[in-house]
Amino acid sequence: MLKDKKVLVTGAAGFIGSNLVDALLADGASVVGLDNMFNGRMENLADASASPRFAFLKGDVRDMTFLLDAMAGIDVVYHEAAFTSVPQSIKMPQLCNDVNVGGMVNVLNAARVRDVKRVVFASSSSIYGDTPTLPKHEGMPLRPISPYGVSKMAAEAYCTAYHHVYGLETVSLRYFNVFGPRQKDSPYSGVVAIFLARIAEGKNPTIFGDGEQSRDFTYVKDVVRANMLAATAPDAPGKAINVASGRPITMNDFTKAMFKACGKEHLQAQHAGKRPGDILHSFADITLAKEALDFVPRYDAVSGFEELVRTMRQ
Ligand SMILES: NC(=O)c1ccc[n+]([C@@H]2O[C@H](COP(=O)([O-])OP(=O)(O)OC[C@H]3O[C@@H](n4cnc5c(N)ncnc54)[C@H](O)[C@@H]3O)[C@@H](O)[C@H]2O)c1
Repeated sequence: MLKDKKVLVTGAAGFIGSNLVDALLADGASVVGLDNMFNGRMENLADASASPRFAFLKGDVRDMTFLLDAMAGIDVVYHEAAFTSVPQSIKMPQLCNDVNVGGMVNVLNAARVRDVKRVVFASSSSIYGDTPTLPKHEGMPLRPISPYGVSKMAAEAYCTAYHHVYGLETVSLRYFNVFGPRQKDSPYSGVVAIFLARIAEGKNPTIFGDGEQSRDFTYVKDVVRANMLAATAPDAPGKAINVASGRPITMNDFTKAMFKACGKEHLQAQHAGKRPGDILHSFADITLAKEALDFVPRYDAVSGFEELVRTMRQ
């Protein structure tokens, strides 16, 4: 699909970026990976670095000169680099805006100057915010409730505007709760990485609230496949598209499935107070992903987690 194309991945040393890099290389593309290493790890690019079709550039998406150099001869840009933490964005809204909005504008401007064919942007379900409507569909009003969510909404709006005004092909993919190999276990990580680390140590994980809240957990392989499709899908430019499993699961059920997959069924989830701002339910309508990308997820939360455990054991 992207064989012989030259592709740039920003945020390449991160969780999703590095999984995408590996898939692009396997598909026959030449890949330039870019990262400022704020949250990236070179070990995520160990396999990629062995390929003669991979090059790594250390630099920042806030640096326009650097981006112009990085985009010379590039056909497709995947913009994964971001200030990714919601709680940190509440502490540092200005920095979040500089990286996520300023960085987006730089990426789009450099892509125009360098005649890049298409830019695929990593957006987020957080832009839906606290709207009660379920499932979340792309036509509904957006009400982000964190600086991070606002920054992703603004970056998406820039993508759509650049498509309309300059004819640059842009596609925004709204990821829902992604998990998989290389996701960091830190207080700012997704819940799956944190729970997996706890369970591996034989410790009981803590669920905030009664555990009946539900989420649409998406395995990273599905996210990567949606990205590959988004590079060439003829009807995708100018659109923002949900990327998710489309199948919600409660934290209580998912945690039990995690214990089982890890062979630790004697563990028991602990419960702590509900966190302010946490929404009760979230899951995606993925009709548009099917129509515009021909994307159908291959994993739900449980089969994705089982695959993750298999991958870690290898
Ligand atoms: N993981 C999820 O569940 C999820 C959900 C929705 C959206 N997203 C989006 O997907 C993308 C990838 O997320 P991830 O989970 O892999 O996060 P990650 O933190 O692992 O990856 C982001 C990468 O961007 C790099 N980076 C940060 N600031 C940079 C800058 N100024 N210049 C260059 N590189 C910079 C970091 O060093 C890191 O390697 C992000 O845009 C994120 O907002 C992720």
